[in-house]
Amino acid sequence: MNKTINIQAFNQELPSDFADRLGIYYTQQVTTSHKKINGQFFTPNPIAKLLASFCKLSKTRIKILDPGCGTSILSCALVEHLIESQKAIETIDLVAYETDSELIPYSKKTLDYLKDWLLNRGTQLNYTLHSTDFVLENAPVLKENIQPNLFKKTKSINKNFDIIISNPPYFKLSKNDKRVIASQELVSGQPNIYSIFMGIAAKLLSENGELIFITPRSFASGNYFRAFREMFFNTVQIDKIHLFNSRKDTFNRDSVLQETVVIKAIREEINLNKKVYISSSTGIKDIFEPSIKYFNVSKLIDLNSMHKILHLPTSDKEENVLSLISSWKNVLADFNIKISTGPVVSFRALDFIQNNYENETVFLSPLFWLQNVNKMVLE
Ligand SMILES: C[S@@+](CC[C@H](N)C(=O)[O-])C[C@H]1O[C@@H](n2cnc3c(N)ncnc32)[C@H](O)[C@@H]1O
Repeated sequence: MNKTINIQAFNQELPSDFADRLGIYYTQQVTTSHKKINGQFFTPNPIAKLLASFCKLSKTRIKILDPGCGTSILSCALVEHLIESQKAIETIDLVAYETDSELIPYSKKTLDYLKDWLLNRGTQLNYTLHSTDFVLENAPVLKENIQPNLFKKTKSINKNFDIIISNPPYFKLSKNDKRVIASQELVSGQPNIYSIFMGIAAKLLSENGELIFITPRSFASGNYFRAFREMFFNTVQIDKIHLFNSRKDTFNRDSVLQETVVIKAIREEINLNKKVYISSSTGIKDIFEPSIKYFNVSKLIDLNSMHKILHLPTSDKEENVLSLISSWKNVLADFNIKISTGPVVSFRALDFIQNNYENETVFLSPLFWLQNVNKMVLE
């Protein structure tokens, strides 16, 4: 690919708009398989603005991390939000990671433009753009508490970030992958790289630092993310969440059909009465007119449980279901009921089906078909 980038910023163009244009251009130059291998699809500008708006930090010198930065649209949107919401920022120290060497000149172009844009507003930007793997470089931070001696021997890690903002790559990793081997503390079953980014980022935050990520919502439950949830929810506390109700309308320009969620968490003392803000929109069009709900963190996640499943109700109905289920004192196994989420194949269950009703000699149980089971009702 030709490395000379002939795209320039317009007069008075916002850095995030410039990053967005560069991203759209770059996306058109690379193949689908390149995007897949790198987990590469860029955040559309309205979503970048939503992530940025979740930041509430106020300081005169701010240290930001953007792992898997692409064209740095998230850093730009965040910096614009910070400059708009507080006037007195003197210095911003930004660290970004991007492993796609073809993309680095684009990120650099945006960051140079952001630097000039900030200078015109009286703020100094110092940025470092690493072309190294974010996971491999920072995974030793996961061992900090467990093996302090080993940690001391590893190359010093840049920590204490005030804000970490990211749309990390999403793809599954095999158990022999170097990144998985380096981050065993986060792994139970087959991991997805995005949860490794999130887990490491949580450990790189300063006290009261804010983590703002957009990711698939699969981390909220399931065995494969159990180790991740254990570490993540013991390190940071959820503050805000935004859910997109439509799969199609978030990253549709890159045909991504994942169900995504924006999560903001803070590295602070765990307080079970903390109110968590949950907003939801259908997609991008209504992103700034969301439905909003507040929940005590203890209603969304039982931090004493082994699985630490995160519940994400967005409507009154879902809230009622959550209350109903949490009121149950038993689990199905207490009633000798086994459950399978796959289909029951009736012709393979002939041994269990009786031709005649023979009560008193056999214990009969009904065969339920799909049409017998409706939402919250067994007919
Ligand atoms: C989903 S894209 C998002 C890009 C950008 N943050 C945005 O929001 O538009 C993830 C980016 O992470 C980069 N990436 C993938 N694996 C990485 C790694 N191990 N370390 C650093 N960057 C990585 C990809 O090349 C890709 O540009």
